[in-house]
Amino acid sequence: SWTMPNYIDEAVKKIREQVGSEEVILGLSGGVDSSVAAALIHRAIGDQLTCVFVDHGLLRLNEGDMVMEMFARGLGVKVIRVDASTEFMGFLEGVTDPEQKRKIIGREFVEVFQRESVKLPNAKWLAQGTIYPDVIESAGSKTKKAHTIKSHHNVGGLPETLNLKLLEPLRELFKDEVRELGVALGLPHDMVYRHPFPGPGLGVRILGEVKRDYAELLKRADAIFIEELRNTRDEHSGKTWYELTSQAFAVFLPVKSVGVMGDGRTYEWVVALRAVVTSDFMTAHWAELPYSLLGRVSNRIINEVRGINRVVYDVSGKPPATIEWE
Ligand code: XMP
Repeated sequence: SWTMPNYIDEAVKKIREQVGSEEVILGLSGGVDSSVAAALIHRAIGDQLTCVFVDHGLLRLNEGDMVMEMFARGLGVKVIRVDASTEFMGFLEGVTDPEQKRKIIGREFVEVFQRESVKLPNAKWLAQGTIYPDVIESAGSKTKKAHTIKSHHNVGGLPETLNLKLLEPLRELFKDEVRELGVALGLPHDMVYRHPFPGPGLGVRILGEVKRDYAELLKRADAIFIEELRNTRDEHSGKTWYELTSQAFAVFLPVKSVGVMGDGRTYEWVVALRAVVTSDFMTAHWAELPYSLLGRVSNRIINEVRGINRVVYDVSGKPPATIEWE
C-alpha cells in the first residue's frame, strides 16, 4: 500500500540510480517546490547536491536568512547564496512597465544562475522542482489564458544552454502531495504550507519603478499583514485567517497622500492590502477579512513603518482585476 515513507524510499532509490556518482545543481528560490525537491535530492545523494540561491532583493522580509537557516544549518545542504540585489536594482532602474520588469528579472535570474553554475564544472545534472500541474500547463500553454495575460516568470525556466541533464523528481506529484512530502522530509510545516509567491517577487508588487527603499518599506508592511493573518483566528471555523485565504500580501503604491501626526502634517506613501480566496487562481474573490483585523494591520503598519501614512484594502474580484496588481 502507498505510504509516504515508502514513497520516499522509492524516490530516493530512483534518484540514486539516475544520478550515480555525478553532481547535481539546483536553483533554490525559497518556494515550496524547489525546497521540497532540494530536500528530497539531498536525502538521496547528500553532498553531490549543490543548491544555488539567487537573492534578487525582492523576496519577503528575512526570507534569504530563513532559506539559509533551513537548508544550510537545518538540513546540512550545500547552498551557495548569491546576493544579486544591487545588480537587479541596477537593471530595473527607470523601468516601469510590468512585463518589462518580469522579463528583466527572469533574464537576470538565469544570468546569475548560469554564472554561478560555471563555478561548478563537475555538475552534470540540473534539478528542478517541476510538479505535475507545471507539466500539464506547459503542454497546453498555447491555450492557457494566464500565459497570455502575464508572462509568468518562474524560477524553473532555466536554459538548455547549460548542457545539463534534467532531474525532476516531483514531476508526478500534485501540490498537496509535494507539501506532504516536504513535511515528511523535515521541512517546517509553516514553510511548506505558505501562500504562493510570484517568481518576480516584490518586483511586481511595487507598482512602476522598483526602488530599494520602496522594497524595504513594502517588506515590513507585508510582514505585519502576514503576521496578523497568522495570529488571528476566525471564531466560527477556528482557523487562522492565513489558512482561510489563498494568497495575501501588501502592495506598494508610489503615491503620496497627506496625513496628520501630532501637530504636524505628513506626506507619505500608500500601501494596499490584497487578500483573496480561490481554488485555482484563475478566478478569485477578495477575502472578507474582519474589520478588527484590517484595523489592527493598518494601525501597526502606519505606526511601525515610517514613510507610510495610509493603508487601503483591495475589494476587487478576479476577473476583472488580477490577483497581483501588475
Ligand atoms: P494573477 O495576478 O495573474 O495571478 O491573477 C495568478 C497567480 O499567479 C501568480 N503570478 C505569478 N507567478 N510569476 C509567477 O511565478 C509571475 O510572473 C506571476 N504573476 C502572477 C500570482 O501570485 C497568483 O498566485
